[in-house]
Amino acid sequence: MILKVVDRAGVEHSLEALDGWRVMEVIRDWGLPIKAECGGACSCATCHVYVDPGWIELLPAKSDEEEDMLDGCFEVEHTSRLACQILMRDELDGLKVTLAPG
Ligand code: FES
Repeated sequence: MILKVVDRAGVEHSLEALDGWRVMEVIRDWGLPIKAECGGACSCATCHVYVDPGWIELLPAKSDEEEDMLDGCFEVEHTSRLACQILMRDELDGLKVTLAPG
């Protein structure tokens, strides 16, 4: 399946992703700049992305922990999510996200 990622220069990348992988892991493993300092434990918010509006409703709701971490982020939008909290699955083939400012 494919994950589309727009980098901070506005360039769109189509990344091959595997079922069950975290969006954060896919972005990191393909070498795009995402800090993900806590390694996916939902405690750093350095994996902040904006989800393309058409995909928002297909994502599971945010946990309280994710809401709390996003509250502390800069430049939060209503489409903001933590990329470590989104697992790739068939329905998300083609999901598009944009890296938040670093
Ligand atoms: S990697 Fe730290 S919150 Fe996502």
